[in-house]
Amino acid sequence: MFIFHLTKYTYLRVCVTCLQLLYLELPELYHDVRTYTSVYFEKGGIMKILIINGSPRTKGVTATVLHMMEEELVSRGADVEFVNLSEIKMSHCLGCCRCYTTGHCCIDDDAEVLSKRIADADGIVLGSPTYASNVSGLMKDYIDRGHFVIEQLLHGKYCITMATGENYGNGDVLKILNNLVLFSDGKRSAKIKITVPFGDTNTVRKNTKEIISRSAAKLILGIKNKKIYPIQMVCHFVIFNLGIKPFVKKKQDTYRGVTEKWESMGIG
Ligand SMILES: Cc1cc2nc3c(=O)[nH]c(=O)nc-3n(C[C@H](O)[C@H](O)[C@H](O)COP(=O)(O)O)c2cc1C
Repeated sequence: MFIFHLTKYTYLRVCVTCLQLLYLELPELYHDVRTYTSVYFEKGGIMKILIINGSPRTKGVTATVLHMMEEELVSRGADVEFVNLSEIKMSHCLGCCRCYTTGHCCIDDDAEVLSKRIADADGIVLGSPTYASNVSGLMKDYIDRGHFVIEQLLHGKYCITMATGENYGNGDVLKILNNLVLFSDGKRSAKIKITVPFGDTNTVRKNTKEIISRSAAKLILGIKNKKIYPIQMVCHFVIFNLGIKPFVKKKQDTYRGVTEKWESMGIG
């Protein structure tokens, strides 16, 4: 019986890995990303990508990786905006839940402006250092304030998640960011986990060029080709239709801000 279950599990893992290879990896192996990019721009498209640094340190490891990403994306013709969460005016979430009724936060600060920028962008790069196996306080504040999950802020957005750490726990951070993207209807084109000693930006510059370049290429290709990630799509379908949607519908008028947003995005 045990062997049967083990075999079934292994079989499932093999299927999932094959699907991932087929839909996530193979297209990148056979296409020149830069060619795709120029074709996109010849058609007059402007790819807007927003990079969000969740580290309080604007010259630290996280910022270094994200600036390298910025360079890669700009070199491929994207219009990139870089935001340090430490430099914007942002209060903590008060937990009043009024945004669900009104459609906007009662605190009128830069967190609201940033979420509008996300709504206008094609691609988002979210980066955070690891603080006690979690995202930074700054990143958590923005996640709470940003209208992400219930409002489906990342609907149709292509994303990269990135976590830095010096020891242990950056995998947990990546999982938190990946789930945020998945639950908010984003499409994750790449994820990056960086492990280096605290403040060692030189090693980062030396050792991460390749992974950053590959990830940037995947993001551009995702946006350009409106790429579908079947596993993420199925997972989000289940989460949204069995979890989020019934919950919001039950709340009726109290969540009218949410349903109005969904209608404007053509979902729900
Ligand atoms: C308060 C605090 C908590 C941290 N906790 C962890 C941790 O749990 N695991 C880890 O690997 N690194 C931890 N670190 C190290 C940082 O995550 C790591 O050095 C990161 O790359 C710093 O990014 P930055 O240079 O952009 O600030 C912690 C650092 C600080 C300041």
